[in-house]
Amino acid sequence: MTLPRRPVELRTDRLLLRQWRDDDREPFAALNADPVVMEHFTHPPDREASDAMVDRLSAGLADRGWGLWAVEVLDDGGFAGFVGLSPVGDDLPPAPAVEVGWRLAHERWGHGYAPEAARRALRFAFEELALPEVVSFTTVRNARSRRVMEKIGLTHDPAGDFDHPRTPGWSGQRHVLYAVTRDAWLAGDR
Ligand SMILES: CC(C)(COP(=O)(O)OP(=O)(O)OC[C@H]1O[C@@H](n2cnc3c(N)ncnc32)[C@H](O)[C@@H]1OP(=O)(O)O)[C@@H](O)C(=O)NCCC(=O)NCCS
Repeated sequence: MTLPRRPVELRTDRLLLRQWRDDDREPFAALNADPVVMEHFTHPPDREASDAMVDRLSAGLADRGWGLWAVEVLDDGGFAGFVGLSPVGDDLPPAPAVEVGWRLAHERWGHGYAPEAARRALRFAFEELALPEVVSFTTVRNARSRRVMEKIGLTHDPAGDFDHPRTPGWSGQRHVLYAVTRDAWLAGDR
């Protein structure tokens, strides 16, 4: 996988996928504390864990040049959440792989922002990083997220579904795996 020489920012018609800033910390902690946003997560992060996540995501962008970018809505300059790419943890069954993922503030839902940003991230994954495949996964019940996966051209691979090893005993432990190969992406409507 080729490494970009400098930190990457990506643009779409309505969005900027950029580096994290200190003033993102408060709105990010607020969306992490929102039970609607966190419906499909076992342990919503508190303020300290949310800030630690910003540190981790910023470091990932700095180290690799790509990752889970902060998403800004160009119209109003507001922080909306994150969308981007992340290496799948070694302990998870889809590994080794790169995942496309998203988390947006509730008031930003329903505008098609997640698919718009995720399509841009996929283009980066295939055109710049030349990855052979990108995956995404979520708990079975997360219909909104599954719909985003379908809208951006990923398909469900039931043979890859798995019980998330970090959430034993949780009713949402079963995860669905979606994927798109570079060849399918090149052949598709992107
Ligand atoms: C998933 C998420 C990013 C979607 O973002 P978004 O920008 O609102 O995406 P969209 O505007 O395209 O809307 C999502 C789609 O889900 C559909 N949807 C909404 N509720 C739904 C439901 N209960 N069942 C099925 N589809 C649903 C919407 O209608 C829309 O599809 P459509 O355009 O075909 O109508 C956002 O809901 C979110 O941040 N969720 C919480 C975090 C999360 O779960 N992240 C993923 C963890 S793996």
